[in-house]
Amino acid sequence: MITKTWTRRAFITALVAIPLFFLILQYVDITPVYSADEQALKPRVPADKLAEVQSLKSPIVASEKTISTGKAIFHGKGVCVNCHGEAGNGKGPIANSFDHHPRDFTDTDDIGWQKARTDGEIFWAISKGTEYGMIPYEDMLSEDERWALVAYIRSLENSVVANHK
Ligand code: HEC
Repeated sequence: MITKTWTRRAFITALVAIPLFFLILQYVDITPVYSADEQALKPRVPADKLAEVQSLKSPIVASEKTISTGKAIFHGKGVCVNCHGEAGNGKGPIANSFDHHPRDFTDTDDIGWQKARTDGEIFWAISKGTEYGMIPYEDMLSEDERWALVAYIRSLENSVVANHK
């Protein structure tokens, strides 16, 4: 009798616990924070070009308009979202396919990537790509489009944190 009751209890517990486990799993973010990789802070521009690239200045003014142009390209024809994610946090749907992970522009991991790069370096990475898997866009997007992306990426710093406040 006692065994029967316990068997029934265990069965009912399992019946509740197993679906509950999977339900909770959907809400827990189990995606690792890839960009915490300290590698991410090392310059991507080759040493002999670094100073020149770092001093590049954007020919466009970062305004609401240029940021929204950049955002449209990021989510549209640039397909940046596939790798960098809707929120620009490096968690796009195909982010896991790379040895080096797409950059988290929100800096939620606090490694200070935004501060470590000048606008020129961001522009360069979008134009030329990097040896760690960022693809070059200079043949696909105009200079102004690439600078608009720089403005948009800059606007993402701390954006996730800000949204939660
Ligand atoms: C196929 C996936 C993929 C797509 C699409 C993609 N990226 Fe990346 N991106 C990466 C990866 C991977 C890295 C990390 C490479 C590295 O660490 O050097 C990266 C890094 C970057 C960096 C950081 C470079 C640095 O100096 O640290 C910038 C900026 C960037 N991407 C912008 C963009 C923009 C803007 C777009 C869309 C126009 C885009 N990416 C589209 C995969 C992608």
